[in-house]
Amino acid sequence: MQNRLSVAVIGVGHLGKEHARILGSMPDVELVGVVDPNHVQADAVAARTGTMAYSSARPLIGRIQAAVIATPTAYHHDSACELLANGISLLVEKPLTSNVAQGIDLVSLAEKHDAILQVGHIERFNPAYEELRRRPLIPQYIRCERHGGFTGRSMDVGVVFDVMIHDLDLILDLVGRPVDRVEAMGAAVLGGNEDMAQARVYFEGGCIADLTACRVSPEPARSMRVWGGEGYASVDFATRKVTLMQPSELLRSGRIDSRRLTPDVIGLLKAELFGRFVETFTVDCSGHHSADQLTRELYDFVSSVREKRQPRVTGRAGLAALTLASQIVQTIHKTDLQSTGQLFPSRSASEAA
Ligand SMILES: NC(=O)c1ccc[n+]([C@@H]2O[C@H](COP(=O)([O-])OP(=O)(O)OC[C@H]3O[C@@H](n4cnc5c(N)ncnc54)[C@H](O)[C@@H]3O)[C@@H](O)[C@H]2O)c1
Repeated sequence: MQNRLSVAVIGVGHLGKEHARILGSMPDVELVGVVDPNHVQADAVAARTGTMAYSSARPLIGRIQAAVIATPTAYHHDSACELLANGISLLVEKPLTSNVAQGIDLVSLAEKHDAILQVGHIERFNPAYEELRRRPLIPQYIRCERHGGFTGRSMDVGVVFDVMIHDLDLILDLVGRPVDRVEAMGAAVLGGNEDMAQARVYFEGGCIADLTACRVSPEPARSMRVWGGEGYASVDFATRKVTLMQPSELLRSGRIDSRRLTPDVIGLLKAELFGRFVETFTVDCSGHHSADQLTRELYDFVSSVREKRQPRVTGRAGLAALTLASQIVQTIHKTDLQSTGQLFPSRSASEAA
């Protein structure tokens, strides 16, 4: 077997411990160590994955070729700089950094030191998104919804950097055109950063995308709908199903004129609109790959470091998503929904009990 790629995971909390578990089980990878200032966490993950625990990455420089950064976003830049400057390739969790200047810094450091820089936009590896990407649909209008329950994690950033950024990366990838301008609004529910946000992104060339994101939602949702001249596609990221619709040959030929419908044709359309007139089919992508998304993202990272090729989600792609997220947050700050009073009287403690 070829030499094993020596890697480390920096930050082994909720997500980093999963990176460590997967990397520790890859036959062509040697997990040299895990790094976390929380000793209890570092020791527990190191014991489970059969590696060494460290409180800083410095002792690993010179001993690793690559690393995954899964610290809170506020520490991505500091953690990544020294490693990139030593030519160590990185997979940095999303969002790339806390601000655009730091993101530019990491991209230029990686290029200067010939290191691979990948960003953890994991939805690019969702088989339902991959199915959509294979379809010849040119988006003219996109609607994304990403709502989740409160987790208590990633509170160092708002919902745009934490949650909406997944969809920002996807729409940039899908549309492939520069952004012209954005409109946005948002609100903080728990105080601090925005917990819900709404944005409209106008692309050069005319495509428009509407996005909503919420991290304090009672009803989870992760979906994208895309309209184009060729038809319509709807992606459910959770069930990994894609529904595609396109006008049938009969409609495309113009033989039916919706302005001059006879009662018979109206009846027929009502009964058979979806199927005979609008062709509809659903692709269940849940069984498309034996490996999960995180494993496939890590395989892409490991092979791009080995083969010295660009990964699917480059540092520049991560920077583009971050730049758009930052533009949206700045717009939100100008149009913040301010609390002006109460909708109804809060219940007293005794009533609530
Ligand atoms: N791709 C995704 O879908 C996805 C999902 C969840 C989280 N994330 C991202 O992953 C990152 C981590 O999120 P999380 O939910 O695992 O957070 P977490 O708080 O559960 O874990 C972060 C860990 O990093 C450690 N840490 C703090 N400072 C450090 C430092 N300087 N060096 C090394 N370790 C340090 C903490 O002790 C903690 O164990 C965030 O950037 C988040 O946005 C991405």
